Amino acid sequence: MHVTFRQLEVFEAVARLKNFTRAAEELHLSQPAVSMQIRQLEKHVGLALFEQLGKKIFLTEAGKEIYHYSRVIAEQLEEAGEVIEALKGLERGHLSVAVASTANYFATRLLANFSDRIGDVTVSLDVTNREGLLQHLEGNEIELVVMGQPPQGLDLLAEPFMDNPLVVIAAPDHPFSGKKNIKMDALKSETFVVREPGSGTRIAMQRFFAERGFELMTGMELSSNEAIKQAVGVGMGLGIVSVHTLELELVTRRLVVLDVEGLPIMRQWYVVHRKGKRLSPVALRFKDFVLNEAEQLLATRE
Ligand code: PGA
Repeated sequence: MHVTFRQLEVFEAVARLKNFTRAAEELHLSQPAVSMQIRQLEKHVGLALFEQLGKKIFLTEAGKEIYHYSRVIAEQLEEAGEVIEALKGLERGHLSVAVASTANYFATRLLANFSDRIGDVTVSLDVTNREGLLQHLEGNEIELVVMGQPPQGLDLLAEPFMDNPLVVIAAPDHPFSGKKNIKMDALKSETFVVREPGSGTRIAMQRFFAERGFELMTGMELSSNEAIKQAVGVGMGLGIVSVHTLELELVTRRLVVLDVEGLPIMRQWYVVHRKGKRLSPVALRFKDFVLNEAEQLLATRE
């Protein structure tokens, strides 16, 4: 059948509105032009598509079939247009992301993998602690954030994508190193080096122990995971960090994870944005990528 998109478009309007005059108005055509397109379409199809009874027009059996397909084709064309628009957006894309300092251990790998796939995208990545991230979100300064669970009531959409266990770390020569099932109570006599106020790791750790009715003895306060690991490594105390910060130290045995009953503290990573925010095509793609592929990608070592 040598029908044209234009004929189908005109037919779709007439069939939907059951009225040549109204279809002509909607399409900004004259009524004779509409009638001509329909006559040509009927010629190609080889059957009448409409029948007139009194003043009303009705679809014939053939008309009903063509109506079904013309709607499917119109929807597909519309979808194709949207996909192309999204691709245009992607090509010119810029992605602004902020991640928790703890998430930075894997965020760069995610971003590298993502930009390899979609080509010409420039990325700006801000790395800061939980408090800094919440400020970014509140000020609407950034499209997407990767962080631990944000607080309620900020009008945010937060979707979890991967577990984030927090573990107790020690120097390999610490008396607890290698022990099985250390009682949580035994931690009471230990000093902990802790992250700065405003760190999500610190808040989670404080909440976890407070809920179990005990207070940890805290020593030095340090503003990064690297500093915590250094201090623990030289025996300044125990530390609590996300397993995602640890890979290398565990392989080289510069640090050990203690087997404490009731731990790790189970948290999750979330991809977060303001609820009403219209994300750019690149940001939407990145969010989708994080939600669907990050966990698996990060589980494989390359
Ligand atoms: P942070 O990250 O400890 O580096 O702030 C963790 C989080 O956002 O919960």
